[in-house]
Amino acid sequence: MNILIIGSGGREHALAWKMAQSHHCDQLFIAPGNPGTASIGTNVAIQINDFVGLKNLVLEHAIDMIVVGPEDPLVNGIFDYFAKDEETKHVNVIGPSQEAAQLEGSKAFSKHFMQRHAIPTASYAEFTHVNYAEGVEYIKAHSLPIVLKADGLAAGKGVIIAFTHQEALASFEDMIQNKQFGEASSKVVIEQFLEGIEVSVFALTDGFNYQIIGHAKDYKRIGEGDTGLNTGGMGCVSPVPFMDQTFMKKVEERIVKPTIKGIQSENLTYKGFVFFGLMNCGGEPYVIEYNCRLGDPETEVILPRLQTDLVSLLAAADNGTLEDVNIEYHAAAFATVMAVSGGYPGAYEKGFIINGLAEASTIAGALVFQAGTGFKEDTIITNGGRVLTTTAQGATLQDAVDNAQKALAKIHFDGMYFRKDIGFEFKA
Ligand code: AMP
Ligand code: GLY
Repeated sequence: MNILIIGSGGREHALAWKMAQSHHCDQLFIAPGNPGTASIGTNVAIQINDFVGLKNLVLEHAIDMIVVGPEDPLVNGIFDYFAKDEETKHVNVIGPSQEAAQLEGSKAFSKHFMQRHAIPTASYAEFTHVNYAEGVEYIKAHSLPIVLKADGLAAGKGVIIAFTHQEALASFEDMIQNKQFGEASSKVVIEQFLEGIEVSVFALTDGFNYQIIGHAKDYKRIGEGDTGLNTGGMGCVSPVPFMDQTFMKKVEERIVKPTIKGIQSENLTYKGFVFFGLMNCGGEPYVIEYNCRLGDPETEVILPRLQTDLVSLLAAADNGTLEDVNIEYHAAAFATVMAVSGGYPGAYEKGFIINGLAEASTIAGALVFQAGTGFKEDTIITNGGRVLTTTAQGATLQDAVDNAQKALAKIHFDGMYFRKDIGFEFKA
């Protein structure tokens, strides 16, 4: 089977690494990819939202399966674009329809959905310029902290956790009156702050059946001890010690099953990954958000941990046999540690030479997944905030983290920074 992966981050490098291992994978293309994916398959310089360009590529290379990495093309309707075209409707596009992708693309849509299906989530209200004054009163009367969310996609920046009413009111005004995130913040969801530990659970669904394919804990803050600014993710561990059978059963019964049933009963077309962003509040799971794709860097631990052939799994989601697939995990623990450019998540420079990539892979079977990298002739250079991540395994989470860090210690670029405390709360 010929396969196309859309995207260019560490998630897509991990997808390429995993899919290339399948004997069902013939030719592998990545659009646009990065130097890491170029070492596994063929990078094609087509942008993720250039549906016409992607269609031409699919026809030219008789591509059978498309895995969409990032949310943008999904929210923009890539699934429908291929499904509705006579020439491409046979292609197995892994991702929800545009309508179903609103589970990620609109916070209000997902909150309504959870409410309709009695899925545990933070209590909320939504406001636009029409009921702005009501929103001001709502904020003033709300307990602290209080969470404000731009309804639409805002490149991961649309969530504000305010610790004073003043701060909340200022953000509310910025979002609605000053259009801080453009159209994305013309509607704002205001919700209760959930106290707990955040975790991510991943399922694959065909809209009727599902399989849970992994879970992880992501470390989102830039600083050690979970301090400082939010980032795209600084590292992950999997499995997570408290996500035992009891907790996972609650997740499955209260959240995963009602979500898939809801998708089915509302006739949403959804063949793809569901990322449940959860809060573990004293042993009880709540949904913080849905994403309609895999996480980054969660993918960089869940795919190495997953033993099951991913291409077969994605084919099963297309041909109605998802229920029959056996999901198997490696026994080891996995960790990934992200190396970022100096200054990230603020301003940073690009273009620094990266040394030591080959040496890093010699450490305890570590994997290097590239994210914000680029080529300068044949040399690999930094080209983004999150530059690369090393994934390693170990008998315990701590061993896995140690191995990932040992591998990372072989790599160097000017300004390189990484957190040395990934998995800190699970230290023996
Ligand atoms: P999101 O863009 O929905 O992933 O939100 C960004 C981050 O804000 C989440 O990963 C959480 O860390 C935090 N967050 C969002 N909603 C809540 C909430 N209701 N309570 C506590 N933290 C939240
Ligand atoms: N690591 C969080 C995300 O992919 O959204």
